[in-house]
Amino acid sequence: MRCIFLLGGDYPELAREEVLALAKTEPAELIGRVLICDANFKWKRLGLTKKVYRFLFESKLDNIETAMEDFEWNGVYEKSFSVRITNLTKKKVSFKEAELAKYIWKKVDVPKVDLEFSQTPVELIVTPKKVLCGLLLHEVNGEFSKRRGHLRPASHPTTMNPKLARACVNLTGIQTGSVVIDPFCGTGGILIEAGLMRFKAIGYDIDEVMLQKCQKNLEFFKVKRFSLQQRDALKLDEDVPYVVTDLPYGRHSKTTNSVEAMYADFLRFLNLHLKFKAVVLFPHFVDRRSLIRASGILLEKEFEIPVHKGLTRYIVLLSRKHQ
Ligand SMILES: C[S@@+](CC[C@H](N)C(=O)[O-])C[C@H]1O[C@@H](n2cnc3c(N)ncnc32)[C@H](O)[C@@H]1O
Repeated sequence: MRCIFLLGGDYPELAREEVLALAKTEPAELIGRVLICDANFKWKRLGLTKKVYRFLFESKLDNIETAMEDFEWNGVYEKSFSVRITNLTKKKVSFKEAELAKYIWKKVDVPKVDLEFSQTPVELIVTPKKVLCGLLLHEVNGEFSKRRGHLRPASHPTTMNPKLARACVNLTGIQTGSVVIDPFCGTGGILIEAGLMRFKAIGYDIDEVMLQKCQKNLEFFKVKRFSLQQRDALKLDEDVPYVVTDLPYGRHSKTTNSVEAMYADFLRFLNLHLKFKAVVLFPHFVDRRSLIRASGILLEKEFEIPVHKGLTRYIVLLSRKHQ
């Protein structure tokens, strides 16, 4: 199905790649924060997209009334309808929602307007280039904000925000039935999102207290399939399918490595044992590119995430070269 994705404004590049990784396609068109592509996955999975629509038609700004009049509304109409305009430009538009609604009213057999619980929520997305008309399929509500770090039963300052954690999991392109491993799981910011998407969530941490907090959080959010173990991530030697992890920024007292040596060890492990994809978060103060190059693993994509004045994170998508 041809879809329109209205991407969130915080990390637009990452938002775009999150969609494309799941749609497993190239964009048909990208206009600012609006991505158009063929897609057929569960939209509710997305972390950084605001709205998803089924593409109905597009028109020039000054031709919207004719396009509304010409469209075969009976083919999409279900019991009731609404018309909304989302203007992404700085200019005012000359048309109004109620005026455009008249074209649907005239065309369908039993017209009924319902602005609150519309069965046919039609939206006109006004971009600087053209107007896109879509049928709203999914809209992100406040669900993510309920899981922000400070609202979890066990919190920690290093934990990731839920939308970003979810986008990191999705960036791997993981499909149903798979397993997500976070070898430095902390209090579980990534595992909560992976678990809520019904992937088996496996977490390791060297610190027992972190694992206890992680368990509390996973249980609180009713994640069903998870397993946690106290392990040193630098001593893993089994194959791992999908890895999503935020590397520790400092050396843990139980390990003797420097931060760089720890990252190098972990990347070497991934280069030997990663089956599919890994998404790894690095802080700005390490030379991630050199470390990645030296490990032999392939850097597929990279995104810059400013956190605050003193910290920038880099999200990298990795895979093994010979796959
Ligand atoms: C940046 S935090 C992870 C935060 C996590 N993503 C979250 O959202 O809560 C890094 C974690 O790595 C753990 N850690 C440090 N060295 C480790 C090692 N060698 N093996 C496993 N875990 C380790 C720390 O205890 C810490 O909990």
